[in-house]
Formats: sequence, C-alpha cells, structure tokens
Amino acid sequence: MSMLEVEVAGLRFRNPTVLASGILGTTAASLLRVARNGAGAVVAKSCGLTPREGHRNPTVVEIEQGILNAVGLANPGAEEFVRELRQALDGGVPVIASVYGFKVEDYAKAAKIVSRAGIAAIELNLSCPNVEKVGSLFGADAELSYEVVREVKRTVSLPVFAKLTANVGDIVEIAKACEEGGADGITAINTLKAMAIDIKAKVPVLGNKVGGLSGRCLKPVSLRCVYEIAQEVEIPVMGCGGIATGRDAVEFMMAGASAVQIGSAVLTRGVGVFRKVALEIQEFLEEMGYSHVRDIVGLALK
Ligand SMILES: Cc1cc2nc3c(=O)[nH]c(=O)nc-3n(C[C@H](O)[C@H](O)[C@H](O)COP(=O)(O)O)c2cc1C
Repeated sequence: MSMLEVEVAGLRFRNPTVLASGILGTTAASLLRVARNGAGAVVAKSCGLTPREGHRNPTVVEIEQGILNAVGLANPGAEEFVRELRQALDGGVPVIASVYGFKVEDYAKAAKIVSRAGIAAIELNLSCPNVEKVGSLFGADAELSYEVVREVKRTVSLPVFAKLTANVGDIVEIAKACEEGGADGITAINTLKAMAIDIKAKVPVLGNKVGGLSGRCLKPVSLRCVYEIAQEVEIPVMGCGGIATGRDAVEFMMAGASAVQIGSAVLTRGVGVFRKVALEIQEFLEEMGYSHVRDIVGLALK
C-alpha cells in the first residue's frame, strides 16, 4: 500500500489531494482529466434541482494573491448532470457529487437524484441563502445546517460531507451541528465574501458586484478553520482554501485535515498540481522519517 493512501469517511483515496467543487468539475471529460492527472478523488461542480444560468460576466477575475468569482452556481440541474457523473466514474477515483439548495428539501431531492449515478459520496454546499428563512444562509445557521444534513442522510445511504463557509461568527458551532445531523465528514472552507473595484470605470469588477475570494490569500483563514474544527469533531475534515503546494497540504494535515481539496491552484498552476502536491507530501514524509501520511494528521493539535 502506498504511503499516501488515505481513508476518509470510509472512502479510499490513493493520495490526499482532491479536486475542489466548481473547478474543472462541470463535465465528465474534465473530471476524468483531473483523475488522470493524479488527484486522489474529485468533487464535481455543485448542482441543484433545476438548471441555472448563473451571474453576468465577468464571473471570474484574478486579483493579487487570489481569485474572485461570482459564477452564481451555473449548472444544468441534477437530472441532466447524472450522465456526466456516471461517466466520470471511469477515472477510477472516488467521485463526490456536490449539491446545493434554497430549501432544506431541495438538498435531499438533489442528493437523491445524483446518487443514481453511482457516486462515492455527496458534498453539501451550504453557502446558499435559505428562501424560507429570508436573510439567512444555510451554512451560517446551525439549526438549518443540522436539518439539511439530517434530511440528506435520511434520503441517501452515501457518506455525506458538509462544506462550510467561514462567513460566520463561530464555524465550530456549525461543524458540530453538521456532525450531530449525521455528517460523515466536513469540508472547510468555501470562498469568503469579497469584491474588487475597477477605479477607471468606477464600478465593481464582478458582474454580480460581490463574489467569493479563493486562492493563496485564503490559506491562513482556511487553515485556522480546519484547526478549530478538527479539535471539536470526531468526523474527518477535508481542508480547502489556498492549497497549492505539498507544504500547504502538510500544514493542513497537521492541523487535523485527513485530505486536502485544491481549487484555484488548478486554475493558476494547471492540472499537474495534484501530482506535484502528492509528490511533495511524499518527499516531506520521507525526509522526516514518517512511514505513512496518516502519521502527520493532527500533529499540530497536540
Ligand atoms: C470559479 C470557482 C467556482 C466555484 N464553484 C463552487 C461550487 O460550485 N461549489 C462549491 O462548493 N464551491 C465552489 N467553489 C469554491 C471552491 O470549491 C473552494 O472551496 C474555494 O475556491 C477555496 O479553495 P481554493 O482556494 O483552493 O480555490 C468555486 C470556486 C471558484 C474559484
């Protein structure tokens, strides 16, 4: 067995690198490409019950040390997406579908639909507004987060990861609520609310004005979130936010992450980033005399 193989919520990844949702995850072809390029698992683009066109352009812009996006959850809808997900299974790595919703039941219904594709697990994108409790975000409300996880767990028999947002006062409270609701793992974190302004045009750069910040500049925040969550929950945590090198991955794993998701770095450094990060983790382990990557998980928590 490879020294990089990890088990996360009952799933086996050949190495701890995982494609984050929304990046190269919209078609079977792109998911297969990531699998062929060394990722341990892939998370597909979030899909909902009905198709969505998404926000006006520009939707993705590069800024200093990061990326701003306001894609607006453009997707073909869960039903349409099943075929892509099914074809992506040929990549030979676990395929995790991501679902979002605007009501608790939307998540469960979308999860039920995508589960027909034979996927390995479901990730819940909790960074969505709730239309029944106006002004609230699922992932910023412990009760709503609990309810979404519980409803999805009642509906499908797959492992469920709750993907949290750091746009909250206390992310640990939300993580605990998800664990109580039956989540098998936590993904931390999604993008942080942010914006940029074009000073010549005197307008916000993004078509949607406000969007989500990802990439290098997010890393200290996402690392802190993983560190706080991992101390308080028993279920595994996947770290996400600004990870681009083996050293970053080792930091997250020492903070308690069992695996690391990579998003923006795929856009800025190319799809070779998975193989490179995995190799750099292995080099670190060998240099430090560790026989397996699991031996470093949580070392900085003690
Ligand atoms: C263009 C773009 C699209 C994204 N779409 C999704 C999505 O559909 N669902 C989701 O849960 N996260 C989405 N994300 C967030 C990423 O999965 C990830 O949580 C975030 O970008 C932080 O990781 P990174 O710094 O490695 O990119 C998206 C990010 C970007 C940059």
